[in-house]
Amino acid sequence: MSTNNNIKTYGFGVVAQGFYNYLETNKEEERLHTVIIKNPTKIRKGINATIETTNSNTARDRDMRVIVELISSADEAYGIVVENLEIGKKVVSANKKLIAENLETIVKAEKENDGIFLYEGAVCGSIPIIRVLNDLYANEQVKEIKGIFNGSSNYILSQLFSKEVSYDEALFQAQKLGFAEADPSSDVGGYDALYKLIIVTAHAFGKIIRPQEVLNIGIEALAKSDIEFAKKYNLKIKLVAKASLKEDQLTLTVLPTLVANNNDLYNIENEYNGVVIDSENIGEQFYKGKGAGSLPTGAVVYSDLKAIDNNYSYSYKKLEAENYKLTDEEKIAVIVSVKESIDVEILNVENLYSIDKRRKRFLATITIEELKRNKHNIQKQGISILAIEDEFLIEELINASLKEEVLTI
Ligand SMILES: NC(=O)c1ccc[n+]([C@@H]2O[C@H](COP(=O)([O-])OP(=O)(O)OC[C@H]3O[C@@H](n4cnc5c(N)ncnc54)[C@H](OP(=O)(O)O)[C@@H]3O)[C@@H](O)[C@H]2O)c1
Repeated sequence: MSTNNNIKTYGFGVVAQGFYNYLETNKEEERLHTVIIKNPTKIRKGINATIETTNSNTARDRDMRVIVELISSADEAYGIVVENLEIGKKVVSANKKLIAENLETIVKAEKENDGIFLYEGAVCGSIPIIRVLNDLYANEQVKEIKGIFNGSSNYILSQLFSKEVSYDEALFQAQKLGFAEADPSSDVGGYDALYKLIIVTAHAFGKIIRPQEVLNIGIEALAKSDIEFAKKYNLKIKLVAKASLKEDQLTLTVLPTLVANNNDLYNIENEYNGVVIDSENIGEQFYKGKGAGSLPTGAVVYSDLKAIDNNYSYSYKKLEAENYKLTDEEKIAVIVSVKESIDVEILNVENLYSIDKRRKRFLATITIEELKRNKHNIQKQGISILAIEDEFLIEELINASLKEEVLTI
Protein backbone atom coordinates (compact mmCIF):
# COMPACT_ATOMS: atom_id res chain seq x y z
CA MET A 1 0.00 0.00 0.00
CA SER A 2 1.26 3.47 -0.86
CA THR A 3 2.01 5.55 2.17
CA ASN A 4 2.27 8.87 0.30
CA ASN A 5 -0.87 10.23 1.81
CA ASN A 6 -0.45 8.88 5.30
CA ILE A 7 -0.71 10.68 8.60
CA LYS A 8 0.87 9.73 11.88
CA THR A 9 -0.50 11.24 15.06
CA TYR A 10 1.50 11.53 18.25
CA GLY A 11 -1.05 11.53 21.08
CA PHE A 12 -4.70 10.65 21.05
CA GLY A 13 -6.06 12.91 23.77
CA VAL A 14 -8.55 15.79 23.76
CA VAL A 15 -7.27 17.59 20.65
CA ALA A 16 -6.26 14.53 18.61
CA GLN A 17 -9.73 13.02 19.09
CA GLY A 18 -11.29 16.29 17.88
CA PHE A 19 -8.96 16.18 14.86
CA TYR A 20 -9.96 12.56 14.19
CA ASN A 21 -13.59 13.60 14.28
CA TYR A 22 -12.89 15.97 11.36
CA LEU A 23 -11.06 13.22 9.46
CA GLU A 24 -14.14 11.00 9.90
CA THR A 25 -16.64 13.71 8.95
CA ASN A 26 -14.65 14.38 5.78
CA LYS A 27 -14.20 10.67 5.00
CA GLU A 28 -10.44 10.90 5.39
CA GLU A 29 -10.04 8.60 8.39
CA GLU A 30 -8.18 6.07 6.26
CA ARG A 31 -5.32 8.53 5.94
CA LEU A 32 -4.57 8.01 9.64
CA HIS A 33 -1.97 5.26 9.49
CA THR A 34 -0.45 5.24 12.98
CA VAL A 35 -1.32 6.68 16.36
CA ILE A 36 1.37 6.87 19.02
CA ILE A 37 0.18 6.97 22.62
CA LYS A 38 1.79 6.67 26.02
CA ASN A 39 -0.42 4.36 28.05
CA PRO A 40 -1.12 1.05 26.24
CA THR A 41 -3.74 -0.05 28.78
CA LYS A 42 -6.08 2.91 28.22
CA ILE A 43 -9.38 2.07 26.54
CA ARG A 44 -9.60 3.93 23.19
CA LYS A 45 -12.36 4.93 20.83
CA GLY A 46 -12.33 2.48 17.93
CA ILE A 47 -10.00 3.66 15.19
CA ASN A 48 -8.63 1.72 12.28
CA ALA A 49 -5.06 3.00 12.59
CA THR A 50 -2.17 1.08 14.10
CA ILE A 51 -1.77 2.05 17.73
CA GLU A 52 1.74 1.99 19.11
CA THR A 53 3.41 3.26 22.23
CA THR A 54 6.27 5.74 22.10
CA ASN A 55 9.52 4.52 20.72
CA SER A 56 11.71 7.36 21.86
CA ASN A 57 14.69 6.15 19.76
CA THR A 58 13.09 6.94 16.46
CA ALA A 59 11.06 10.04 15.93
CA ARG A 60 11.90 10.28 12.22
CA ASP A 61 8.94 9.10 10.23
CA ARG A 62 10.22 8.77 6.69
CA ASP A 63 7.25 6.88 5.29
CA MET A 64 4.59 9.33 6.50
CA ARG A 65 3.37 12.39 4.61
CA VAL A 66 2.18 14.42 7.61
CA ILE A 67 3.14 14.17 11.29
CA VAL A 68 0.54 15.56 13.69
CA GLU A 69 2.13 16.17 17.07
CA LEU A 70 -0.51 16.43 19.81
CA ILE A 71 1.12 15.18 22.99
CA SER A 72 1.03 16.98 26.30
CA SER A 73 4.75 17.40 27.03
CA ALA A 74 6.77 20.10 25.28
CA ASP A 75 10.10 18.41 26.00
CA GLU A 76 9.03 15.08 24.50
CA ALA A 77 7.46 16.86 21.52
CA TYR A 78 10.73 18.62 20.64
CA GLY A 79 12.40 15.57 19.06
CA ILE A 80 9.24 14.55 17.22
CA VAL A 81 8.90 17.99 15.61
CA VAL A 82 12.53 18.97 14.96
CA GLU A 83 13.80 15.58 13.80
CA ASN A 84 10.95 15.22 11.33
CA LEU A 85 11.45 18.75 9.98
CA GLU A 86 15.12 17.90 9.54
CA ILE A 87 14.12 15.22 7.05
CA GLY A 88 11.79 17.62 5.24
CA LYS A 89 8.52 16.35 6.69
CA LYS A 90 5.30 18.29 7.00
CA VAL A 91 4.43 18.69 10.67
CA VAL A 92 1.40 20.05 12.52
CA SER A 93 1.46 20.85 16.25
CA ALA A 94 -0.63 22.68 18.85
CA ASN A 95 2.09 22.73 21.49
CA LYS A 96 2.49 26.40 22.44
CA LYS A 97 5.22 25.82 25.04
CA LEU A 98 7.33 23.84 22.57
CA ILE A 99 6.88 26.48 19.89
CA ALA A 100 7.41 29.54 22.11
CA GLU A 101 10.59 28.08 23.58
CA ASN A 102 12.08 26.78 20.32
CA LEU A 103 10.66 28.84 17.46
CA GLU A 104 14.01 29.89 16.05
CA THR A 105 15.35 26.31 15.90
CA ILE A 106 12.08 25.01 14.50
CA VAL A 107 11.83 27.62 11.73
CA LYS A 108 15.48 26.97 10.81
CA ALA A 109 14.87 23.22 10.58
CA GLU A 110 11.74 23.85 8.50
CA LYS A 111 13.33 26.29 6.05
CA GLU A 112 16.67 24.52 5.61
CA ASN A 113 15.05 21.19 4.80
CA ASP A 114 11.99 22.29 2.83
CA GLY A 115 9.63 21.00 5.49
CA ILE A 116 6.35 22.60 6.55
CA PHE A 117 5.41 23.42 10.13
CA LEU A 118 1.92 24.73 10.95
CA TYR A 119 0.50 25.34 14.43
CA GLU A 120 -2.78 27.25 14.34
CA GLY A 121 -4.11 25.19 17.28
CA ALA A 122 -1.36 26.50 19.55
CA VAL A 123 -2.87 29.98 19.90
CA CYS A 124 -6.46 30.81 20.87
CA GLY A 125 -8.02 27.46 19.86
CA SER A 126 -10.48 28.04 17.05
CA ILE A 127 -9.50 31.65 16.22
CA PRO A 128 -7.30 31.44 13.09
CA ILE A 129 -5.02 34.17 14.35
CA ILE A 130 -1.69 32.83 13.07
CA ARG A 131 -3.02 32.54 9.53
CA VAL A 132 -4.50 36.06 9.75
CA LEU A 133 -1.20 37.51 10.99
CA ASN A 134 0.91 35.56 8.51
CA ASP A 135 -1.29 36.38 5.51
CA LEU A 136 -3.26 39.60 5.99
CA TYR A 137 -0.76 41.35 8.23
CA ALA A 138 2.39 40.31 6.35
CA ASN A 139 2.30 43.66 4.55
CA GLU A 140 0.71 45.74 7.27
CA GLN A 141 2.42 47.58 10.14
CA VAL A 142 0.99 46.21 13.40
CA LYS A 143 1.03 48.70 16.28
CA GLU A 144 -0.42 46.50 19.00
CA ILE A 145 -1.80 43.02 19.51
CA LYS A 146 -3.50 42.09 22.74
CA GLY A 147 -5.98 39.60 23.98
CA ILE A 148 -7.38 37.04 26.32
CA PHE A 149 -5.33 34.01 25.34
CA ASN A 150 -6.09 31.59 28.16
CA GLY A 151 -9.54 30.04 28.49
CA SER A 152 -8.99 28.49 31.93
CA SER A 153 -8.17 31.72 33.74
CA ASN A 154 -10.87 33.53 31.80
CA TYR A 155 -13.38 30.91 32.93
CA ILE A 156 -12.27 31.35 36.55
CA LEU A 157 -12.50 35.16 36.30
CA SER A 158 -15.96 34.93 34.71
CA GLN A 159 -17.16 32.75 37.59
CA LEU A 160 -15.68 35.12 40.18
CA PHE A 161 -17.52 38.05 38.61
CA SER A 162 -20.86 36.38 37.92
CA LYS A 163 -21.27 34.13 40.96
CA GLU A 164 -20.51 34.19 44.64
CA VAL A 165 -17.80 31.56 44.38
CA SER A 166 -14.31 31.45 45.79
CA TYR A 167 -11.20 31.25 43.60
CA ASP A 168 -10.70 27.58 44.62
CA GLU A 169 -14.31 26.68 43.75
CA ALA A 170 -14.01 28.39 40.35
CA LEU A 171 -10.73 26.59 39.65
CA PHE A 172 -12.24 23.23 40.66
CA GLN A 173 -15.18 23.85 38.33
CA ALA A 174 -12.81 24.77 35.47
CA GLN A 175 -10.93 21.50 36.02
CA LYS A 176 -14.18 19.50 36.17
CA LEU A 177 -15.28 20.95 32.83
CA GLY A 178 -11.89 20.21 31.26
CA PHE A 179 -10.96 23.90 30.81
CA ALA A 180 -8.07 23.70 33.29
CA GLU A 181 -5.34 21.09 33.65
CA ALA A 182 -4.92 18.96 36.79
CA ASP A 183 -1.83 21.11 37.35
CA PRO A 184 -3.24 24.58 36.60
CA SER A 185 -0.06 26.54 37.31
CA SER A 186 0.71 27.27 33.65
CA ASP A 187 -2.80 28.64 33.08
CA VAL A 188 -3.37 30.67 36.25
CA GLY A 189 0.30 31.73 36.46
CA GLY A 190 0.03 33.41 33.06
CA TYR A 191 2.58 31.09 31.38
CA ASP A 192 0.19 29.62 28.82
CA ALA A 193 -0.83 33.15 27.77
CA LEU A 194 2.85 34.14 27.66
CA TYR A 195 3.76 31.30 25.26
CA LYS A 196 0.94 32.37 22.96
CA LEU A 197 2.05 36.00 23.15
CA ILE A 198 5.56 34.98 22.10
CA ILE A 199 4.13 33.18 19.06
CA VAL A 200 1.85 36.02 17.93
CA THR A 201 4.68 38.52 18.46
CA ALA A 202 6.89 36.57 16.05
CA HIS A 203 4.18 36.82 13.38
CA ALA A 204 2.90 40.34 14.11
CA PHE A 205 6.28 42.03 14.59
CA GLY A 206 8.85 39.59 13.21
CA LYS A 207 10.68 39.30 16.52
CA ILE A 208 11.33 36.04 18.34
CA ILE A 209 11.53 36.75 22.06
CA ARG A 210 12.40 34.19 24.72
CA PRO A 211 9.57 33.60 27.25
CA GLN A 212 11.97 34.25 30.17
CA GLU A 213 12.47 37.82 28.94
CA VAL A 214 8.81 38.78 29.39
CA LEU A 215 6.89 39.81 32.51
CA ASN A 216 3.97 37.50 33.23
CA ILE A 217 1.80 37.77 36.32
CA GLY A 218 -1.15 35.41 36.62
CA ILE A 219 -4.42 35.57 38.48
CA GLU A 220 -3.47 33.55 41.58
CA ALA A 221 -2.92 36.53 43.89
CA LEU A 222 -6.27 38.21 43.18
CA ALA A 223 -8.26 38.73 46.36
CA LYS A 224 -12.03 38.82 46.81
CA SER A 225 -11.67 42.54 47.50
CA ASP A 226 -10.06 43.05 44.06
CA ILE A 227 -13.15 41.59 42.43
CA GLU A 228 -15.41 43.77 44.63
CA PHE A 229 -13.32 46.82 43.80
CA ALA A 230 -13.65 46.18 40.06
CA LYS A 231 -17.38 45.50 40.33
CA LYS A 232 -17.98 48.73 42.21
CA TYR A 233 -16.61 50.66 39.21
CA ASN A 234 -18.50 48.45 36.75
CA LEU A 235 -15.14 47.06 35.58
CA LYS A 236 -13.92 43.52 35.00
CA ILE A 237 -10.55 41.90 35.52
CA LYS A 238 -9.13 39.98 32.56
CA LEU A 239 -5.78 38.28 32.09
CA VAL A 240 -4.51 40.36 29.18
CA ALA A 241 -1.47 39.47 27.08
CA LYS A 242 -0.17 42.43 25.11
CA ALA A 243 2.61 43.32 22.69
CA SER A 244 2.93 46.89 21.51
CA LEU A 245 5.36 48.78 19.33
CA LYS A 246 6.54 52.37 19.83
CA GLU A 247 9.13 53.49 17.30
CA ASP A 248 11.34 50.40 17.14
CA GLN A 249 10.78 49.32 20.76
CA LEU A 250 8.54 46.41 21.65
CA THR A 251 6.84 46.05 25.04
CA LEU A 252 5.36 42.69 26.06
CA THR A 253 3.36 41.87 29.20
CA VAL A 254 0.88 39.35 30.58
CA LEU A 255 -1.00 40.99 33.45
CA PRO A 256 -4.34 40.85 35.25
CA THR A 257 -5.96 43.97 33.87
CA LEU A 258 -8.95 46.18 34.71
CA VAL A 259 -11.12 46.69 31.64
CA ALA A 260 -14.08 49.00 31.19
CA ASN A 261 -17.33 48.02 29.49
CA ASN A 262 -16.44 49.76 26.22
CA ASN A 263 -13.35 47.57 25.83
CA ASP A 264 -13.63 44.72 23.31
CA LEU A 265 -12.26 42.27 25.86
CA TYR A 266 -14.90 43.12 28.50
CA ASN A 267 -17.49 40.70 27.16
CA ILE A 268 -15.19 37.75 26.49
CA GLU A 269 -16.42 35.22 29.03
CA ASN A 270 -15.66 31.70 30.20
CA GLU A 271 -13.60 29.54 27.81
CA TYR A 272 -13.73 32.13 25.02
CA ASN A 273 -10.65 33.98 23.84
CA GLY A 274 -10.43 37.39 22.19
CA VAL A 275 -7.75 39.13 20.15
CA VAL A 276 -7.55 42.79 19.17
CA ILE A 277 -5.06 43.88 16.52
CA ASP A 278 -4.37 47.56 15.93
CA SER A 279 -2.46 48.38 12.78
CA GLU A 280 -1.42 51.33 10.66
CA ASN A 281 -3.90 51.16 7.78
CA ILE A 282 -6.51 48.60 8.76
CA GLY A 283 -7.12 50.15 12.18
CA GLU A 284 -8.60 47.91 14.85
CA GLN A 285 -9.80 44.36 14.26
CA PHE A 286 -11.33 42.14 16.90
CA TYR A 287 -11.58 38.33 16.89
CA LYS A 288 -13.54 36.23 19.37
CA GLY A 289 -13.88 32.46 19.57
CA LYS A 290 -13.55 29.32 21.65
CA GLY A 291 -10.02 29.19 22.96
CA ALA A 292 -9.79 25.48 23.69
CA GLY A 293 -11.64 22.18 23.61
CA SER A 294 -11.63 19.05 21.51
CA LEU A 295 -13.63 20.12 18.46
CA PRO A 296 -12.72 23.84 18.31
CA THR A 297 -9.00 22.96 18.43
CA GLY A 298 -9.43 19.79 16.33
CA ALA A 299 -11.03 22.01 13.66
CA VAL A 300 -7.94 24.17 13.23
CA VAL A 301 -5.59 21.17 13.37
CA TYR A 302 -7.61 19.64 10.53
CA SER A 303 -7.49 22.96 8.69
CA ASP A 304 -3.67 22.89 9.03
CA LEU A 305 -3.68 19.43 7.43
CA LYS A 306 -5.75 20.73 4.52
CA ALA A 307 -3.38 23.71 4.20
CA ILE A 308 -0.45 21.28 3.98
CA ASP A 309 -2.33 19.33 1.30
CA ASN A 310 -2.33 22.62 -0.61
CA ASN A 311 1.36 23.19 0.10
CA TYR A 312 0.73 26.24 2.28
CA SER A 313 3.45 27.30 4.70
CA TYR A 314 3.98 30.38 6.88
CA SER A 315 6.03 33.01 5.06
CA TYR A 316 7.47 34.64 8.21
CA LYS A 317 7.94 37.69 6.00
CA LYS A 318 8.54 40.03 8.94
CA LEU A 319 11.08 37.72 10.57
CA GLU A 320 13.58 38.62 7.92
CA ALA A 321 12.65 42.28 7.65
CA GLU A 322 12.27 43.75 11.13
CA ASN A 323 14.79 44.49 13.82
CA TYR A 324 12.83 45.69 16.84
CA LYS A 325 14.20 45.70 20.38
CA LEU A 326 12.41 44.50 23.49
CA THR A 327 12.19 47.18 26.17
CA ASP A 328 11.08 47.08 29.82
CA GLU A 329 11.38 50.82 30.32
CA GLU A 330 7.75 51.68 29.69
CA LYS A 331 5.79 52.93 32.70
CA ILE A 332 2.35 51.46 33.15
CA ALA A 333 -0.54 52.43 35.41
CA VAL A 334 -1.47 49.82 37.99
CA ILE A 335 -3.60 49.28 41.04
CA VAL A 336 -1.43 47.73 43.75
CA SER A 337 -2.93 46.09 46.84
CA VAL A 338 -0.70 45.12 49.69
CA LYS A 339 -1.30 43.57 53.08
CA GLU A 340 -1.33 45.81 56.16
CA SER A 341 2.17 44.75 57.14
CA ILE A 342 3.78 45.57 53.77
CA ASP A 343 5.10 48.91 52.61
CA VAL A 344 4.07 49.55 49.01
CA GLU A 345 7.31 51.52 48.50
CA ILE A 346 9.23 48.23 48.24
CA LEU A 347 8.00 48.20 44.64
CA ASN A 348 9.54 51.53 43.69
CA VAL A 349 6.23 52.89 42.47
CA GLU A 350 5.64 56.49 41.39
CA ASN A 351 2.66 58.88 41.47
CA LEU A 352 1.05 57.05 44.32
CA TYR A 353 -2.64 57.73 45.09
CA SER A 354 -4.42 55.95 47.88
CA ILE A 355 -7.76 54.83 46.52
CA ASP A 356 -9.08 52.86 49.43
CA LYS A 357 -8.94 54.21 52.94
CA ARG A 358 -9.37 50.95 54.77
CA ARG A 359 -7.29 48.71 52.58
CA LYS A 360 -3.82 49.43 51.31
CA ARG A 361 -4.86 49.87 47.69
CA PHE A 362 -3.06 52.38 45.51
CA LEU A 363 -3.09 53.74 42.02
CA ALA A 364 0.50 54.12 40.84
CA THR A 365 2.82 54.04 37.88
CA ILE A 366 5.65 51.59 37.66
CA THR A 367 8.08 50.43 35.01
CA ILE A 368 7.82 46.91 33.64
CA GLU A 369 11.45 46.47 34.60
CA GLU A 370 10.58 47.18 38.26
CA LEU A 371 7.67 44.73 38.19
CA LYS A 372 9.96 42.10 36.66
CA ARG A 373 12.65 42.68 39.26
CA ASN A 374 10.05 42.34 42.03
CA LYS A 375 8.08 39.42 40.61
CA HIS A 376 9.34 37.01 43.22
CA ASN A 377 8.52 39.49 46.01
CA ILE A 378 5.08 40.14 44.56
CA GLN A 379 4.28 36.44 44.55
CA LYS A 380 5.80 35.73 47.96
CA GLN A 381 4.04 38.62 49.68
CA GLY A 382 0.68 38.04 47.98
CA ILE A 383 0.70 41.53 46.44
CA SER A 384 -1.99 41.98 43.83
CA ILE A 385 -1.23 43.95 40.67
CA LEU A 386 -3.94 45.10 38.28
CA ALA A 387 -2.88 46.88 35.12
CA ILE A 388 -5.23 49.55 33.80
CA GLU A 389 -6.16 49.05 30.18
CA ASP A 390 -8.26 52.13 29.55
CA GLU A 391 -6.66 55.59 29.76
CA PHE A 392 -9.81 57.40 30.89
CA LEU A 393 -10.03 55.10 33.90
CA ILE A 394 -6.77 56.41 35.29
CA GLU A 395 -8.17 59.91 35.31
CA GLU A 396 -11.43 58.77 36.87
CA LEU A 397 -9.62 56.97 39.64
CA ILE A 398 -7.34 59.95 40.31
CA ASN A 399 -10.32 62.30 40.43
CA ALA A 400 -12.14 60.01 42.82
CA SER A 401 -9.05 59.88 44.98
CA LEU A 402 -8.56 63.68 44.96
CA LYS A 403 -12.20 64.30 45.82
CA GLU A 404 -11.81 61.68 48.54
CA GLU A 405 -14.59 59.70 46.95
CA VAL A 406 -12.48 56.75 47.86
CA LEU A 407 -13.87 53.26 48.04
CA THR A 408 -14.33 51.66 51.41
CA ILE A 409 -14.63 48.01 50.54
N1 LIG B 1 -6.95 20.65 25.24
C1 LIG B 1 -7.09 21.77 24.53
O1 LIG B 1 -8.17 22.35 24.48
C2 LIG B 1 -5.92 22.35 23.79
C3 LIG B 1 -6.10 23.54 23.05
C4 LIG B 1 -5.04 24.05 22.31
C5 LIG B 1 -3.81 23.41 22.33
N2 LIG B 1 -3.65 22.26 23.08
C6 LIG B 1 -2.34 21.61 23.03
O2 LIG B 1 -2.50 20.39 22.30
C7 LIG B 1 -1.61 19.39 22.80
C8 LIG B 1 -2.41 18.17 23.23
O3 LIG B 1 -3.29 18.56 24.26
P1 LIG B 1 -4.46 17.57 24.76
O4 LIG B 1 -5.34 18.43 25.60
O5 LIG B 1 -5.04 16.84 23.62
O6 LIG B 1 -3.64 16.60 25.71
P2 LIG B 1 -4.18 15.25 26.40
O7 LIG B 1 -5.65 15.15 26.32
O8 LIG B 1 -3.53 15.19 27.74
O9 LIG B 1 -3.59 14.09 25.48
C9 LIG B 1 -2.22 13.89 25.36
C10 LIG B 1 -1.99 12.66 24.54
O10 LIG B 1 -0.60 12.53 24.33
C11 LIG B 1 -0.22 11.18 24.62
N3 LIG B 1 1.17 11.23 25.05
C12 LIG B 1 1.70 11.86 26.12
N4 LIG B 1 3.04 11.75 26.10
C13 LIG B 1 3.35 11.02 24.99
C14 LIG B 1 4.54 10.55 24.41
N5 LIG B 1 5.71 10.81 24.96
N6 LIG B 1 4.46 9.88 23.24
C15 LIG B 1 3.28 9.63 22.66
N7 LIG B 1 2.11 10.03 23.16
C16 LIG B 1 2.15 10.71 24.32
C17 LIG B 1 -1.19 10.71 25.68
O11 LIG B 1 -1.20 9.30 25.66
P3 LIG B 1 -2.25 8.44 26.53
O12 LIG B 1 -3.54 8.60 25.80
O13 LIG B 1 -1.69 7.09 26.45
O14 LIG B 1 -2.25 9.06 27.90
C18 LIG B 1 -2.48 11.36 25.17
O15 LIG B 1 -3.09 10.56 24.20
C19 LIG B 1 -0.83 20.05 23.95
O16 LIG B 1 0.36 20.58 23.45
C20 LIG B 1 -1.76 21.20 24.37
O17 LIG B 1 -1.04 22.28 24.96
C21 LIG B 1 -4.67 21.73 23.81
